[in-house]
Amino acid sequence: MSNAAPAGRAHWSSRWAFILVTAGSAIGLGNIWKFPYMTGTNGGSAFVLVYLACIIGIGVPLLMAETLLGRRGQENPADTMRIVAAEARASQWWQIVGYIGILGALFILSFYSVVAGWILDYTFLAMKGFAGASKESLAQTFSQLLADPVKLIAWHTAFMAINVAVVAGGVTAGIERANKIMMPALLAIVLVLIGYGFVAADMGAAFRFMFHFDFSAISSKVILSAMGHSFFTLSLGMGAIMTYGSYLGRDTSIARTCLYISVADTGIALLAGLAIFAIVFAQGLEPAAGPGLILQTLPLAFSQMPGGGVIGVLFFLLVVFAAWTSSISLIEPATAWLIERFGLRRSRAVWIVCLTTWLLGIAVALSFNDWSEVRFFGLNIFDFLDTLTTKIMMPLAGLLIALFTGWVMKRAHVEDEIGLGGGAFHLWFNVLRFLSPLAIVVIFLNVIGVIG
Ligand code: PFF
Repeated sequence: MSNAAPAGRAHWSSRWAFILVTAGSAIGLGNIWKFPYMTGTNGGSAFVLVYLACIIGIGVPLLMAETLLGRRGQENPADTMRIVAAEARASQWWQIVGYIGILGALFILSFYSVVAGWILDYTFLAMKGFAGASKESLAQTFSQLLADPVKLIAWHTAFMAINVAVVAGGVTAGIERANKIMMPALLAIVLVLIGYGFVAADMGAAFRFMFHFDFSAISSKVILSAMGHSFFTLSLGMGAIMTYGSYLGRDTSIARTCLYISVADTGIALLAGLAIFAIVFAQGLEPAAGPGLILQTLPLAFSQMPGGGVIGVLFFLLVVFAAWTSSISLIEPATAWLIERFGLRRSRAVWIVCLTTWLLGIAVALSFNDWSEVRFFGLNIFDFLDTLTTKIMMPLAGLLIALFTGWVMKRAHVEDEIGLGGGAFHLWFNVLRFLSPLAIVVIFLNVIGVIG
């Protein structure tokens, strides 16, 4: 079967455009909001160590495999899996991988958008300035926001609206170009915060907390959380990478580009973590504060540093932007599926996807206040959707992708696509065939053992 692109299907303008948009998908709230708070609630260095191991042993090999499948199939995730399975004379059931992704991406987007709404709110708070903020007043500001369903839903709606605008127009040169400016700017501000950490906060304590490895603190819960987060941060298993890979031309080395993307993603997370924990320890804050961590720490730094007013506004704006470049990648898989499977116009497909997610997002917003008592398996709606996607759906899709690429696909096709030669190919291929699936299964079983 030919794997040439169907006539008229969009493709990235260059290899760099692919790196940019895929890094845009990977780098988001996961790096700046989630990684620091999860490190805090999972005991610091134990989490960081397992997270790094999962990125190297599972995340990077899978990022390459998922991109490879997308480029081979040249369709939305469900049809890509149908096509590559047919090419390998394998069962059509492999399409399930695509559907797990399409559905999971919508689940993630529903809570992602609510959290992006928090950041929008803080962008406006930063414009007024955080002068006189104290840890008590910031904790109160955050809990007041969570208690206000109207505000949460309004910001969530605003965030979804800017997403509709972009994705309805196609993933345009505009967003590619904006990425080129905004991502380096975000890195620059994170570096300013690191500088602040060295000068005015407790960078030593932050280093110790994140890198003083204490193996005894590693538990099943820490391992499952770290594995889930390694999937989340690299956008794996949710069809986003597969869809972006499907817009990739044949001349690009998948291995090299995926490596760049992973290094950038991990680097930003570690830097953000250090900057935040330096403030946490200097101010005697609680590292295990949970999802509000960055909102209760960074404003303190902004209120004290010279130029903090401007830096604060810029920082929150750039985080909104980072979230935005990730959320469009969550909308694209279902959109591409509706367009390619049912022949819908792009604008209509985007509206369907975004309205569905918006409704689910309202339930997420209410789970912090009016519906806080609604529980699934003991978790509120926000925690349930987060757990379901990052700890179950993403690793499951990842496992199936590793098995398919490593064992079902024709090896010649894999070699043809990946762009790795000799020893490097064997290393990657064997990790994908043995280490990654085994690690995912062992972690799963371990957790079931612990729960059971
Ligand atoms: N990787 C994004 C982040 O770290 O914020 C979140 C994400 C985007 C997850 C796209 C999954 C996905 F398909």
